[in-house]
Amino acid sequence: MTEPTVTPWNANPAHYWMHGHRPAEPVEFDERFGGWNVTGYAEAQQVLADPQTFNSDTSRFFPSYGDTDDKTIRLLTSDNLLTMDGVAHRDRRRLVSKVFTPKIVADMEPRIAELVHEIVDGLTGKPEFDFVTEVAYPLPVSVIAEMLGVPSSDRDLFVYWADRLFESKTIFYDTEPGQDAMAASQAAIRDFEPMIGYLAEHAAERRQRPRQDLLSMLVESDLSDDEVISFAILLLVAGHVTTTLLLGSTIMCLDRHRDAAAAVRADRTLVPAAIEETLRLISPVPMLARGTTVDTEIGGRPVPAEQLVMVAIGAVNRDPRQFPNPDEFDLTRDPNPHVGFGRGVHFCLGAPLARLETRVAMNVLLDRLGDLRTDPANPPVFHPSIEMGGARHLPVKQLHR
Ligand code: HEM
Repeated sequence: MTEPTVTPWNANPAHYWMHGHRPAEPVEFDERFGGWNVTGYAEAQQVLADPQTFNSDTSRFFPSYGDTDDKTIRLLTSDNLLTMDGVAHRDRRRLVSKVFTPKIVADMEPRIAELVHEIVDGLTGKPEFDFVTEVAYPLPVSVIAEMLGVPSSDRDLFVYWADRLFESKTIFYDTEPGQDAMAASQAAIRDFEPMIGYLAEHAAERRQRPRQDLLSMLVESDLSDDEVISFAILLLVAGHVTTTLLLGSTIMCLDRHRDAAAAVRADRTLVPAAIEETLRLISPVPMLARGTTVDTEIGGRPVPAEQLVMVAIGAVNRDPRQFPNPDEFDLTRDPNPHVGFGRGVHFCLGAPLARLETRVAMNVLLDRLGDLRTDPANPPVFHPSIEMGGARHLPVKQLHR
């Protein structure tokens, strides 16, 4: 377990922490985007613990999405927990937390196991496959659809919208110079107007005839129909690809760290430790954006009001002042206070679900499949987006024990 995780996988060069580099200072001004990078652990804690000074509605730093009266755009971009601040955020989070509870999530365990088994049924005869396409991508969207109560006959439709949502997100973040980002993203946004219509129809139907599902519970809470739809979409935006990345990265870490892989296979109580180390070393959400609301300081460095602050979670999780031997994959790291799920008032609401899905999936995979190894001739392809840490294609070979 001592081999440093300086990646052999050609990770995104913008994720310098994956390549063994650390900036000289934990807080630096970055001329390229005219804002601040925070890469130190204590400094990140300071920022994330103080939402009054560092707020989450960073829309003022980015070109507008155009007509903000447009309902589809509003539902997709601004009207969600991630970008809300203050009392509005607190009240909305309180409402959805009453429904999206750890118990609701824990009760999903048997169903998640069934879904993983269904996926693995399709893999047993395949010696080689793309782990992302076959396992890591379909599982989280199926789980979210299942929780919301989307009938299985509509599952493919839901997967299609999740794909479109994901593509539009990529358009938001990965515009080539000269590409008209606004036109491209607005065109993509038009594509899931039907999804909003679908969710509205189902929400109305649940108001008439409640069922045992999340959508029914959301409409029965004090949320308006728009708020229910916006939250359902947020579950897909925030919970789908992030979990896909974590699943793929867990496979990559075990592929790379053979002692750890053997230890996990021999003792399944180590699966959660492997997941936490993966979250730390290949943080699926590698950057969080905040904006300063007043003149302030971070780690003693003066930072003026109205500045964009990027908290580089991936680098923070490898700060040697906090994590001894930070580039090592260490199953015995305890405690492991990584900030892969954020910190403070916006701490990931889906963390229990992401952890559960990954644990259940890893256990079924270990039970039913051979060792999943990467192929040096066909290496993982990392996401080009700096907003995403992990692979978008992960070809694996199944080696039988
Ligand atoms: C927030 C990471 C899975 C729902 C966050 C934040 C992070 C994060 C870092 C904080 C954002 C900020 O402070 O600006 C992850 C990772 C995941 C994951 C790494 C998987 C490995 C999920 C899942 C769901 C989910 C499965 C739900 C289905 C949310 C929501 C928020 C959030 C609703 C907003 C909370 C708020 O602003 O109050 N997530 N997430 N996430 N996450 Fe996750």
